[in-house]
Amino acid sequence: MLYYPPSQATLSYVVSHILCKTTDIEDPGSKSFEVKIKRKTQSIFLIHKNGNFFAYYNKCPHTGASLEWQEDQFLDLDKELIQCATHDALFTIDSGECIAGPCSGDSLQALTISIQADEIHLVL
Ligand code: FES
Repeated sequence: MLYYPPSQATLSYVVSHILCKTTDIEDPGSKSFEVKIKRKTQSIFLIHKNGNFFAYYNKCPHTGASLEWQEDQFLDLDKELIQCATHDALFTIDSGECIAGPCSGDSLQALTISIQADEIHLVL
């Protein structure tokens, strides 16, 4: 199953990297990764919520800062929203839209992932 970010309609070819197994992330939970995208090492993270997975660049639209509170901790206390550790902006898990904070109305940059045989692949 492919999870496309809203702006990506089609792929002409598919290159993917295995990030982890679906069982490696609690539900709800999150995990960060360093991956090469277009020859640059990028920080990204996965969120697991209600059986679904979502991937975003680890970059707050407010200042570009990393979002996590501690290693692999991207969710708020209720584990309902993504929360930026720097100025507390809150983002929806399924769309990455900022719904509160200094970058309200902006969005996290989503990535496409696929799940094959319990492995989560980043699709480039
Ligand atoms: S850096 Fe994320 S809210 Fe300011």
